Amino acid sequence: MEEKQGLLAHSLIRHGVSRRTFLKYCATLASMMALPPSAGRAMAEAMAAARRPSVIWLPFQECTGCTESITRSHSPSIEGLIFDSISLDYQETLMAAAGHQAEEALHKAIEDNKGKFLLIIDGSVATGLDGAYSCIAGRSNLDLLKEVAPHAAAIVAVGSCAAFGGIPKANPNPTGAVAVSDIVKDKPIINVPGCPPIPVVMTGVLAHYLTFSTVPELDKLGRPKAFYGETIHDRCYRRPFYDQGKFAKTFDDEGARKGWCLFELGCKGPVTYNACASTKWNDSTSWPVESGHGCIGCSEPDFWDAGGFYKALSMPADPLKLASTAAMVGAAAGVAMSIANRAKKGAAKSAHETTTLADLEK
Ligand code: SF4
Ligand code: SF4
Ligand code: F3S
Repeated sequence: MEEKQGLLAHSLIRHGVSRRTFLKYCATLASMMALPPSAGRAMAEAMAAARRPSVIWLPFQECTGCTESITRSHSPSIEGLIFDSISLDYQETLMAAAGHQAEEALHKAIEDNKGKFLLIIDGSVATGLDGAYSCIAGRSNLDLLKEVAPHAAAIVAVGSCAAFGGIPKANPNPTGAVAVSDIVKDKPIINVPGCPPIPVVMTGVLAHYLTFSTVPELDKLGRPKAFYGETIHDRCYRRPFYDQGKFAKTFDDEGARKGWCLFELGCKGPVTYNACASTKWNDSTSWPVESGHGCIGCSEPDFWDAGGFYKALSMPADPLKLASTAAMVGAAAGVAMSIANRAKKGAAKSAHETTTLADLEK
């Protein structure tokens, strides 16, 4: 009985999750990860038999938005149950213990699970003044990272702050904020950017790790291709208006009321890789573009400094002109290819290789 209690399947049964619901969830996840249909059942079996892996979550220079995002998933959602079903041995914001007890929990979790635990980090790493800008229990985040990371099996950098430095790294970067990957060079790191990231993407990455005990396939920025393989623009429901050249000019004009494309109002969807347009937010209720605001590129490096949230991208808004301008370089070329040949995965991939928000705004 004790052995069974460690299994995820046991936890799901205890929470009243039916086999059908669990299989459906796994099939959806498999499809989002571009795995074949048969992978859904294999995933369900592997996940049900998975033991609760130890997870240590260290919040660094952050706003708690990432923690809020994953904990505000609708309850009782299956994502929440899977999150419950890892052994979250240390998380300063969520744990009941405080002070010395919390520190003891951290050290015990490291000792008991050396080389096996998953390290989740949200927030950037302050390096200015030897890391003194962000400390806990008298130690800088920088020192804590150097102490804990060598014992982890892998690291998940949750949120754009941990993945790319995020808002703390924005000009003039007073704390010397950097990404986790700027400090740790010898561990697998999965970047899950977004400000904050989508809850189902975070739980999807955890589900992948639970199922396969491996790091998912990543793009050149360390993001799982399953969730960051396409631009917002590729999946946007306003895309037909973009293709027809129908753009809202202000947030309250007739075009805006008709749901036309937000490109001219500064939407960064064409150069932003994230899953919002497919998964949406708040239990699939809506997402920024559906709510009438352009994407600000929150899952891309340096999105805050690229700024100009209401400034149109520096490329022609006329998609036909774009598609015919073969010599256009950088991001515009990626978008043109995407328009000309959306059905071909290869074209989308090559846009992915060449396009970043930073490239475009230079
Ligand atoms: Fe907050 Fe955004 Fe940084 Fe997450 S990524 S800690 S939500 S500022
Ligand atoms: Fe959607 Fe923005 Fe692309 Fe327009 S520019 S289709 S609103 S992602
Ligand atoms: Fe962020 Fe754009 Fe999605 S701003 S939440 S990536 S629509």
